[in-house]
Amino acid sequence: MGHDMAALFAERERDRYSMHAQHLNEQMVRVLKTIGYDVGFTRGVGQYLYDRDGARYLDLLSGFGVFALGRNHPTLREALKSVLDSELPNLVQMDVSTLAGVLTEKLLALVPYLDKALYCNSGAEAVEAAIKFTRMATGRTGIVFCDHGYHGVTNGALSLNGDNIFRDGFEPLLPDCTKIPFNDLLALERVLHTRKIAAFIVEPIQGKGVNMPSGDYLKDAAAICRRHGTLFVADEIQTGMGRTGKFLAVEHWGVEPDMVLLAKSLSGGHVPVGVVLTRKSVFDKVFDRMDRAVVHGSTFSKNDLAMAAGIATLDVMQSERLIENAAEKGERLIQGFRALMPKYELMADVRGKGLMIGVEFGAPKSFTLKASWNMVETASKGLFCQMITIPLFKDEKILCQVAGHASHTVKLLPASVITGEDCDWILKSFDTVIAGAHRLGAVWSLGKTLAEHAVRAKAS
Ligand SMILES: Cc1ncc(COP(=O)(O)O)c(C=O)c1O
Repeated sequence: MGHDMAALFAERERDRYSMHAQHLNEQMVRVLKTIGYDVGFTRGVGQYLYDRDGARYLDLLSGFGVFALGRNHPTLREALKSVLDSELPNLVQMDVSTLAGVLTEKLLALVPYLDKALYCNSGAEAVEAAIKFTRMATGRTGIVFCDHGYHGVTNGALSLNGDNIFRDGFEPLLPDCTKIPFNDLLALERVLHTRKIAAFIVEPIQGKGVNMPSGDYLKDAAAICRRHGTLFVADEIQTGMGRTGKFLAVEHWGVEPDMVLLAKSLSGGHVPVGVVLTRKSVFDKVFDRMDRAVVHGSTFSKNDLAMAAGIATLDVMQSERLIENAAEKGERLIQGFRALMPKYELMADVRGKGLMIGVEFGAPKSFTLKASWNMVETASKGLFCQMITIPLFKDEKILCQVAGHASHTVKLLPASVITGEDCDWILKSFDTVIAGAHRLGAVWSLGKTLAEHAVRAKAS
């Protein structure tokens, strides 16, 4: 029996919505049909997706930020194929992995103040390890996290989630986890003063909302942690791997965390992998005796395909200067968006670093727009952003997302390989769509339809 996956994909592609509605997440199918995203993508190359008719889309979502290299990068494919073609002794388990050793050398060369790596299979799994390791290393149980923070949805990671939409119905979660406002040093100091806190786990730039740290917040927070014997953990799962124009986002603020979490783009987008980088002193508290050598781990961590994906990703980042490209294209986009602001009363803010950008919208002042805004936002808070993302998708062939539930921020998280032409495409498309939202035409009739859907969904 042959296993030509491309042929199987072509044969069954048109059934995907019915298969998913029947056996997988039916609500997701309903969402996609309602917002009209059911175009049927059949190919992905670099920063572009192609639908059944061959139309090209620019992907600013990049699989929730995993495709820093874009989809199907030739070097990554070559690396993965070389693993499959070589009969390597993968996952012997009663041995140690050569490729894991090589990847770790490369990672730690980029984060030289840390000494050790623990691999896993996802971002949330890295967060779970961070909770366990910091508790063990400090002998304390408390974990502090931020309002609006997102660290994944497994039980421990969910305990650090700052949005009730994810938590509701799953509680009680882990005890001793305390939420504080982002950018609030006094609140941090107050909780850490109890000296019961093992770790402060924070995203340098919050993914939900693209919320920026103000001034020296991260640096001061790290200093407060050090003073109170609390470990400072940077969740760089989304911000790391060059996305913000530095290998780690904390580098923008001169911070050296006790622990750094990476996942997403380390995988090249194709083989899941996560990693916890930390100090030897932390690691040695967990793996402290020979009979505890396997006290934490995961069967598939350090598998050769994942390690090869990580090695190839880091090599491509360096050889194609992708971190520098993220910095340069990000700056160009942010400046371009800021230049649009004086034209549009609905634009409230533009923020971000590198290729993690938020374009925030806010209530208009003019009477005619205000009534329409209120109609849409009363039906469902944050609904206005769909009036930007849907026309961007349908008319401008740009795929992007709203930065969170009830958020007024549209988020850009493109591949680090985007070009100057892509930047022009993005800015021109946003300009066109935002201009449309300032006229009482097609965009607001879409808004009315979405509002009706939202009211019906609430009632059902
Ligand atoms: C900052 C951050 N931490 C953790 C996670 C969880 O990663 P995963 O979805 O791989 O479990 C995410 C995912 O979006 C994230 O953005």
